[in-house]
Amino acid sequence: VRLRFLFGYITGAILTLCVQSAHADADTDLNNWMKLAVPAAEGYLISNISPHDGLLGSVLASPSRTSPDYYYNWIRDAALVMDVYMSDLESSNTTSSDSPFVRHTFVEDLLWNYLSFNAKLQSSNALTGIGEPKFYVTGAPYMGDWGRPQNDGPALRASLLIRFMHYLIQHNRLDEAQTKVWPVILADLTYVGQNALNPSYDLWEEFKGDNFFTLVTDRAALLAGADAALWLKNKSLSDSFKSQVPKIEAVMQGHLNTKTNQVVENMHRVAGLIDKKDSGLDTATVLAVIHTDAYPYLKYDSSMLQNTVDQLAKQFQQIYPINTRSDVGSAFGRYPEDVYYGGNPWFLTTLAVAEYYYKLGLYDVQMNRSNGSKYLALGDMFLQRVRKHVDAQLHMSEQMDRNNGFLLSAPDLSWSYASLLTAVNARSRLSRNLPAVASVATKAGP
Ligand code: NOJ
Ligand code: NOJ
Repeated sequence: VRLRFLFGYITGAILTLCVQSAHADADTDLNNWMKLAVPAAEGYLISNISPHDGLLGSVLASPSRTSPDYYYNWIRDAALVMDVYMSDLESSNTTSSDSPFVRHTFVEDLLWNYLSFNAKLQSSNALTGIGEPKFYVTGAPYMGDWGRPQNDGPALRASLLIRFMHYLIQHNRLDEAQTKVWPVILADLTYVGQNALNPSYDLWEEFKGDNFFTLVTDRAALLAGADAALWLKNKSLSDSFKSQVPKIEAVMQGHLNTKTNQVVENMHRVAGLIDKKDSGLDTATVLAVIHTDAYPYLKYDSSMLQNTVDQLAKQFQQIYPINTRSDVGSAFGRYPEDVYYGGNPWFLTTLAVAEYYYKLGLYDVQMNRSNGSKYLALGDMFLQRVRKHVDAQLHMSEQMDRNNGFLLSAPDLSWSYASLLTAVNARSRLSRNLPAVASVATKAGP
């Protein structure tokens, strides 16, 4: 076994050398980095799932117990983490990959565990019921002061579980989908339908009011639910989910500032910590778009979305000293006025921008336009930025120091790793779909 490993290693090294001399450019270099960073992220992520002192299917936001204490299962973070495994399941088929059966079972088990843990959370005595944002990994609700409810959580969870349901139905397992998965989805969608128009705390847990991210995820969940109800031949339920959407869209419309050509993330504050978000800009807007692909509200090439990203970049370039280097993309924070743990750039927001450009590229290719490779290169700038700031073992935390780029705040944040994995996923979908000529152009480099 060892010899075979060594042999594999040597041929691998020779192959790598050949490839490197063929195109010794940034592209190859980044690819080699991803070969290390992806398995590292997968490993660090999995060790945050079903921790020894928690129930199966619980997801630690981070193993950190102090400054900050992130030793909880957040509904939002967990759903976004499970997106990684759900995509894996969706793209797997029994003919590819080395051990499809083992891999399949493992990933499917994760999703079943996630489902049963969340079914338990739904029926707990949490202060805001289904709108409750965080729980102990034992399943007990957190009863202390917190920004609650957070209505994006149930929406993200429902959308994720609808994909799981779709997967089961495609594999002739309608019965399991209907009896085990659907009840959890239904509880979330009922809550979302009843609460989408009520003020909610935003995804950053600071601002209670109307939040674009929350509205976009609520809308997408109801539309996904309308489709799922039809799989179960329940037309009237489907119609009732759909009928909620125009009211949500009317509120969303108010967040589109046509004068400045910018999305205003938060509006109509009724409570919360932050009342001054003068710029209106927030990377949450980008997150909203990349996490609702199946039911888009703003198209990837919308000029307002692109301008919002550009304005955010401009602000973060001014605010963060590390952004003076321009050989890589700008590090992005949550929003310009942020002060939480120093209000530094975050890994997950910077990676969201990479993912945004990859998906914009994919959209461009689908529209038969010719900017796919340009957007691939742009996305890569942001991946290169993140690469500068991970530590020597490829760990990521929540934030990076705005002055020197070192890891800050919650170590091994699950959401950071999930963001790397979904960004890299989008990248490989884009590079697979680039027309042949365009991909040669990318390879040729600068
Ligand atoms: C904790 C939340 O997790 C974080 O997002 C927020 O910025 C702070 N509370 C505000 O104090
Ligand atoms: C603070 C972030 O603002 C919030 O979005 C996240 O859910 C928690 N940390 C846990 O990661």
